[in-house]
Amino acid sequence: MAKGLDVGTMNIISAEKGKGDSISFAQQRNAFLEMEAGDLAQNMLDSAKILYTQKDNMINVLGEDAFKFSNVFNKSIRRPMKQGIISPDEKESIPMIKLIIERVLGKPEKEGEIVYISVPASPVDSKVNVLYHSKTVEALAKRFGYQTHLIDEGLAVVFSELGDFNFTGIGISVGAGMTNITVAYLATPVVSFSIARGGDWMDEQVSSATGVANERITQ
Ligand SMILES: Nc1ncnc2c1ncn2[C@@H]1O[C@H](COP(=O)(O)OP(=O)(O)OP(=O)(O)O)[C@@H](O)[C@H]1O
Ligand SMILES: [Mg+2]
Repeated sequence: MAKGLDVGTMNIISAEKGKGDSISFAQQRNAFLEMEAGDLAQNMLDSAKILYTQKDNMINVLGEDAFKFSNVFNKSIRRPMKQGIISPDEKESIPMIKLIIERVLGKPEKEGEIVYISVPASPVDSKVNVLYHSKTVEALAKRFGYQTHLIDEGLAVVFSELGDFNFTGIGISVGAGMTNITVAYLATPVVSFSIARGGDWMDEQVSSATGVANERITQ
């Protein structure tokens, strides 16, 4: 059976069709938290099936647990993506995204199982190039043994929501880092673009207007 993968600035999600019309999702926060190995008992991490990496004395807790631990230990999380694409400011981005993708996507049922990966459209308000991001994410999924296909994020919304309208209309995906928009006619994209702003930008604006810490505003 085919799968879907969405690698977003805040969440990495995979979808798989189950029996009948049911679809099962696996979701992880696209984040990691660096901690000293002494702070955490390693056997506790293993028994709780927490996703982590260890190098020398440092542990990186990944995904949903990074977010939970950051609240408990009052430490800031690091995020591998920014404004919809792999962050150029975070050199550990790719290995972290790779592990989170591996966790949500799982192994292919058979070699060459199909996965459709949503990719952002070029932003109209920034010079960032989405190609490097898209090709990197595709290469990661390929390495796990999947046959990969890329799909425009706004078009994925059209496919998901506009089945009753001959896949004609406008698909909008408002994410944390970006807003993707696609106008489709009979399932064919006519116009597709993004704005390199989304929930993160809104949070920053609220934070600077009210003085409340960004972490407390973000959902
Ligand atoms: N209940 C809520 N009310 C308002 N905003 C919310 C709520 N839940 C989540 N958000 C916001 O939605 C955004 C996350 O959405 P989503 O998971 O779709 O983004 P993403 O796909 O990871 O990012 P992108 O597509 O931009 O790379 C965040 O900015 C988050 O703060
Ligand atoms: Mg998204």
